[in-house]
Amino acid sequence: MSESIKKIGILTGGGDCPGLNAVIRAVVKSATLMHGWQVVGIPDGFDGLIWPERLRPLGIEEIRGILPRGGTILGTSNRGNPFAYPVKENGVTVLKDMSPVLLENFNKVGLDALVIVGGDGTQKIGLELWRQGVRVVGVPKTIDNDLSATEITFGFDTALHTATEAIDKLHTTAESHHRVILMEVMGRDAGWIALESGIAGGAHVILIPEIPCTIQKICEKIDERAQIGSFYSIIVVAEGCQYIDGASISGSDQNRRQTPRSGEVANAIGSMIARSTQKETRVTVLGHIQRGGTPSPFDRVLSSRFGVAAVELIARGQFGHMVCLRCGSIESTPIEKAVGQLKTVDPNGEMVRTARALGISFGN
Ligand code: F6P
Repeated sequence: MSESIKKIGILTGGGDCPGLNAVIRAVVKSATLMHGWQVVGIPDGFDGLIWPERLRPLGIEEIRGILPRGGTILGTSNRGNPFAYPVKENGVTVLKDMSPVLLENFNKVGLDALVIVGGDGTQKIGLELWRQGVRVVGVPKTIDNDLSATEITFGFDTALHTATEAIDKLHTTAESHHRVILMEVMGRDAGWIALESGIAGGAHVILIPEIPCTIQKICEKIDERAQIGSFYSIIVVAEGCQYIDGASISGSDQNRRQTPRSGEVANAIGSMIARSTQKETRVTVLGHIQRGGTPSPFDRVLSSRFGVAAVELIARGQFGHMVCLRCGSIESTPIEKAVGQLKTVDPNGEMVRTARALGISFGN
């Protein structure tokens, strides 16, 4: 198979995350050095193949120095699904199937295979292109760590470092002012960032989507701490967490997921805590800081392993597959089996039990 490959493309799709550049670097290096292939960088996700003017060759020179850089030198987009692409017609935005244009450009440029680096949504598009004859291989990414096909995604470890460092800083100011401080973290419908940063940062309450909480239980924990002389509390709130306030359940729902509003959940819960406990309460929203910055050594290594493994998949002709990490080893899985299977926190699992044993409340 390797002989029939001469030129491959690479794109990054969906939200960015630390480690994307390390993947690009690993793909370019191994494709060039091990196989003598040419690599073409596709800008802004699938958009780059719909509007091919900005496609550019990626050689060793182009990837020099990018290993520690956050973001992606290719740019990315989480709005450009080629099968339902928003275009303006007579002043109205309509969704058009632009995949025929993409396929035509793919062939025109002479690409023999395509490396798609992205999360669940991006891999779903990759799968559809594979079904239409494009030789794709996938590399999973997301800070949320919510893909069940892989033990861990790169970007998560860096996000965890960022969140943990922020909790460490909030401890000192919360304690000095005897305040309740809530910190909202990302993660969509999975509580991994909140759970692990909460444990690592010694939070007192962790609120995750997988364990609906009540304002009353959160306040009980704050009171319980006051009774032992601890007049401050740190609460880590996952952006997708659900809280029960009286009879209604709020927080994560379909609508919210489509248009997530940063800080919405933590601010709502914070106000209710302040009202109920009469304690000074503050809210910090980490937001996109979690997605930025230089990748941790762990993420750089995982990204490099994934990038090299993606090139090996192409060399072996194993298209329609995505690289993944299982029991610490790099393996691959059909993209078909990987998409749509989210990995969420087990509310009764070892990690949650560990947190509870450390005295952490989940507000339930
Ligand atoms: O999936 C990664 C993620 O950072 C989520 O944790 C978060 O909900 C979302 O993306 C934010 O997306 P955007 O960059 O479009 O605001």
